[in-house]
This record gives sequence, structure tokens and C-alpha cells, in this order.
Amino acid sequence: MAVGTVLITGGTGYIGSFTSLALLEHGYDVIIVDSLYNSSEVALDRIELICGKRPAFHKVDLTDGENLDKVFAAHPNIDSVIHFAALKAVGESAEIPLEYYRVNVGGTISLLSSMKKHNVTNIVFSSSATVYGDATRFENMIPIPENCPIGPTNTYGRTKSFVENIIEDFISAQRQNLKKANKPFEQWNGANLRYFNPCGAHPTGIMGEDPQGVPYNLLPLLGKVATGDRPKLLVFGDDYPSRDGTAIRDYIHVVDLAKGHLVALNYLREHKPGVKAWNLGSGRGSTVYEIINAFSKVVGRDLPYEVVPRRQGDVLDLTANPTRANKELNWKTELTMEKACEDLWRWVSNNPKGYRQEPPPELLAD
Ligand code: NAD
Ligand code: WQD
Repeated sequence: MAVGTVLITGGTGYIGSFTSLALLEHGYDVIIVDSLYNSSEVALDRIELICGKRPAFHKVDLTDGENLDKVFAAHPNIDSVIHFAALKAVGESAEIPLEYYRVNVGGTISLLSSMKKHNVTNIVFSSSATVYGDATRFENMIPIPENCPIGPTNTYGRTKSFVENIIEDFISAQRQNLKKANKPFEQWNGANLRYFNPCGAHPTGIMGEDPQGVPYNLLPLLGKVATGDRPKLLVFGDDYPSRDGTAIRDYIHVVDLAKGHLVALNYLREHKPGVKAWNLGSGRGSTVYEIINAFSKVVGRDLPYEVVPRRQGDVLDLTANPTRANKELNWKTELTMEKACEDLWRWVSNNPKGYRQEPPPELLAD
């Protein structure tokens, strides 16, 4: 008998596929809803290859409430939702803001409406450290705790912050209305998980990030430099007041991040806290140069780079204070940034075309 049944939106995407795997490995049944806008069904094959179980899959756009309702109706055992489906490119969000609000905010409203209709009462949401904006504007807020004031500096970040508020308002209303009617209300709960910089791949080398378009994050770009798909990395600024002049981020291995979802969901089911936010990060900041060095080391040669001016909107330091998740969720990162580099390189070097090719047979041996 399954521990529970979870609907995962965006479950064929990067973080969603690792979380689906973690849930299946821990006895949950998983139902994925994804439009495949930025992912492929091959992720389902890889999940099955690793854990021997295949999630149910529905190709549905989250903004299509009618078809979303049909998925909930087809799986009456669903008791919780983990919500990844979103558009996530910061630069693009400034160019097509309405599309970001339609998908990220509108998609969430459609999802919450279906949850209400089908009495599915737990939601874990993919928020982002980007909701904090520039935390260095305050004294003593680095590393960043959850009570650091929210202040996103871009459209994408604002969609995440709005959705956090929408979930808080919705769960609070559900609880209040049921309480007034003298009905059990405590089953309505939410987790806003603020991830820092997810990276890495599965240690087997058969599952990793495979976006449909051009990557823009540091480590996937370094992967492209290492495979020769890009001539060099552009380092966005070496004039920050950091130990080597480059900006600091908290890189978190995607396998640790996936476990964070599992423990947050378990916490909601057990403790019924209402809505809470948790930072998911390691607490360790790395500079851009430290990442280049760590990745060069696993590749076995120096990777070319050139320093260019700062990227607009970038901040000096986004390092998590993960104490709340450490204490309440009994969760902390176990895998280092160096391990993420190693696993990323195994994934990239063995699968230069991502999911558009079969992995080398030696990786499938066990
Ligand atoms: P991803 O693009 O790999 O995954 C998102 C998935 O959502 C994709 O499979 C995509 O096809 C799907 N999707 C998009 N629009 C949809 C729609 N309208 N209906 C149904 N499915 C749709 O991205 P990811 O890196 O795995 O990110 C997952 C979540 O985590 C996102 O909400 C993202 O904003 C958030 N997040 C990501 C990072 C990061 O650096 N990767 C950091 C913080 C937060
Ligand atoms: C990391 C560092 C860059 C590329 C973004 C989103 C955030 C979250 C994670 C979704 C920065 C530097 C990068 C390059 C570089 N996503 N860099 N050259 O900007 O910290 O966070 O992804 O929620 O919301 O904003 O990640 O990987 O783009 O950059 O020098 O070609 O690497 O300046 O210091 P970022 P990133």
C-alpha cells in the first residue's frame, strides 16, 4: 500500500523528475501533469530505469482547468500536490511578463481551484531565493533567513512571491471557512520552498537537466564550454566586494533538493502547520571562480572564460540560512557543490544530446 498519492505538476522537468524519483523511492504513488513545454517524456523512462517504478503521466497544460479536473477525477486517491510547473527564465520574464503571470500565477489559480473541488489539501510549492531580491540591502541578512523581507527585483521573482501569497490566502480561507462551519480544517496545509541554486545530476549519469532551449545558468553553461559547444564562459563581473571579486551563490545538489520536497510533504501531513516557508540551501556560498575551478577539476583541464561587465539584476550574495529546514524538517544538504560538478559532468559528457539519445550501455550495467 502506498504511503500516499501525490500529483506532481512539472514532474518531467529538471527538479520535478528528481522529486518524482525520490517520492517513488519512499513509497508514494506519483501522478505527473506536464505540458512538456520544457521537458520530455523520456524523463519517465529514466525514473523507471533507476527505481523500477513509473509515474502515471498526463500531458495537460496547467492553465486548462477542465482537463486538470479530469486528472484529479481519474485519480481519487491524490492527497497532496507538489507544484513545479512554471516558466523560469528571469531575462525572458522581462520581455513577456503577461505570459509569466498567465502560466505561473494563472496556472497556480487553476491548480488550487481543482484541489478545492477534489478536496486535495496539501500543496508544496517551488518558490525561489529570488523572492528575497538583494538581501545585502539589509544588515545581518546574509546568510538569508526566511524572515528576511521579500523584495523580488524581476518579473519571474514577482510571480513566485505572488504565488506564495496566493497559497497563504487560499489555505487560510479554507481553514477559516471550515472552522466556522465546525468542520475539520487542519488538513489544509502548504509549504513554500525557497530554493537557492539547484545543480547537478543523478550519480548514475542517466538523469539530469535537459532543457528544450539554450541554458542560461552558470553550471549548465560551463558544461557546454567543457563539451566544446561554447567557446568560453562569460564571467559577469569580477568587481564585487567578495573574496575574489565574483558573485556568491548557494549551489544545492538536485538530489538533496528532491529530498527536501519529500520531507516538507511529510512534515505537512504530520504537523499540519498551515502555510510555512523554508529555505532549501546548503548555507555554503561559492563564488563564480570557485565554481569554474571545481568544474575544471572534474573535467581535468582549465576551462576558458572571459570577464565581462556585471549582468543586470545580479546581486552580490545569495546564500541561504537553512537553519529552519535543518531543525524543523530534519533536513540538510549531504552532497557538496564539488559532488554536483562531478555528477553534472558525468551526465553532460555521457549524454551530449540529453534525452534525445540513449545513454551509453555501461551506465545501464547495474
Ligand atoms: P523545468 O523547466 O525543467 O521544469 C518545469 C516543468 O514545468 C517543465 O517540465 C515544463 O514542461 C512544465 N511546464 C511549464 N509550463 C507548464 C504548463 N503551463 N502546464 C504544465 N506544465 C508546464 O524547471 P526546473 O528547473 O525543474 O524548475 C522547477 C520549478 O522550480 C519551477 O517552478 C521553477 O521556477 C522553480 N525553481 C527553479 C530553480 C532553478 O534554478 N532551476 C530555482 C528556484 C526555483
Ligand atoms: C549564478 C552566478 C551570475 C552565467 C537564477 C535565477 C534564480 C534561480 C536560479 C529560478 C551569478 C554568474 C552566470 C554566466 C556568470 N532560478 N554567471 N556567467 O542568477 O544566481 O539565479 O537561477 O528560480 O531565480 O535568478 O543563477 O546560474 O544564472 O548565475 O558569470 O554565463 O553565475 O552572474 O553570479 P542566478 P545563474
